[in-house]
Amino acid sequence: MKILVTGGAGFIGSHTIIELYKAGHSVVVIDNLSNSSKVSLERVAELVNVDAVPFYQVDIRDRAGLDKVFTEHCFDAVIHFAGLKAVGESVSKPWEYYDNNITGTLTLLDVMRQHGCKNIIFSSSATVYGDPVTIPITEECPKGSCTNPYGWTKSMLEQILSDIQKADPEWNVVLLRYFNPIGAHPSGRIGENPNGIPNNLMPYITQVAVGKRPELGVFGNDYDTPDGTGVRDYIHVVDLANGHVKALADIERHNGLSIYNLGTGHGYSVLDVVKAFEKATGMKVPYRIQPRRPGDIATCYSDPAKAARQLGWSAQYDIEDMCRDSWNWQKQNPNGF
Ligand code: NAD
Ligand code: UFG
Repeated sequence: MKILVTGGAGFIGSHTIIELYKAGHSVVVIDNLSNSSKVSLERVAELVNVDAVPFYQVDIRDRAGLDKVFTEHCFDAVIHFAGLKAVGESVSKPWEYYDNNITGTLTLLDVMRQHGCKNIIFSSSATVYGDPVTIPITEECPKGSCTNPYGWTKSMLEQILSDIQKADPEWNVVLLRYFNPIGAHPSGRIGENPNGIPNNLMPYITQVAVGKRPELGVFGNDYDTPDGTGVRDYIHVVDLANGHVKALADIERHNGLSIYNLGTGHGYSVLDVVKAFEKATGMKVPYRIQPRRPGDIATCYSDPAKAARQLGWSAQYDIEDMCRDSWNWQKQNPNGF
């Protein structure tokens, strides 16, 4: 298939492009580079042995820019990663988040339908479950109340995409709810490249290990979990990337609307991750217990059975693989790209 990858210069997009190439698909990328570097695509090109990954520096809110890309190429499907994703920033800049993520996606969808491309895979998030009613979380678990505008953009975009598919059954929409993606390509050539102080656990740990930050703050040890720290379902980004390739099958079989959790089904606490990192890398991660972070929940992990059953997809990498590959990327690229 010929796939348009929006946000393809970013963390998950760049890893997905590699797996798309490996599966024999062709790819065009658009990205406004607001949270990424073109170097990631140069590294992807090296890894898949092509001269260059076709790339347009276009914002998804730029209708004319999108129109040009869709006029020059005929796509079978769009994998839509482009979006702003910093939870804390979304609280202080809600307008920017709603504009970028929602206006951007509405513009993209309109240009897609005008060009007769009605197949989309969308990056959603476990955040749509809010504080989940059941654990492990199946796709039937009701959506919950999000604690920040970023989460609401995902929840609202799921609704928008579902309504559009319902009104026009020519659309095939796959909503992929990611759990906590970490790790990096095993080559160490591409990985997560956060701006400033990392918000997320694994990039913070690797920056402590590489000496950029003195210690990890552990946000709360009084949750109702085995060791009191928050439990999450960490998933290797290469596994996540493969989930997108597998999800293309639902588009090929005209499945209408489908929703999948992409997780491993295992929950690890913050301290479990610290221990796994130390074991996998031999590095020491000093930490200090801090107050809870507002908006955090105690426990979140998936039941990934539906994706296994319907897509034949399941995660292959374990937590130590994730730690090893995150570290391999960080130590080879202490300052990112
Ligand atoms: P990322 O920031 O590395 O990648 C997103 C890319 O989109 C970036 O390259 C950015 O420059 C680009 N972008 C942002 N706004 C754009 C716009 N208006 N026009 C064009 N390009 C734009 O993030 P990621 O971790 O790779 O996440 C990819 C997607 O997955 C996002 O939609 C994110 O919300 C979602 N997601 C991520 C996580 C996670 O923990 N990383 C979890 C759940 C869902
Ligand atoms: N944590 C710390 N210290 C840190 C960072 C995180 O103790 O410096 C803890 C958090 O309290 C939480 C766990 O580590 O218990 C994971 O936190 P992350 O920030 O890495 O991930 P979240 O589960 O909070 O959120 C992530 C993404 C969201 C996405 C969600 C579900 O940031 O965008 O996973 O997919 F919605």
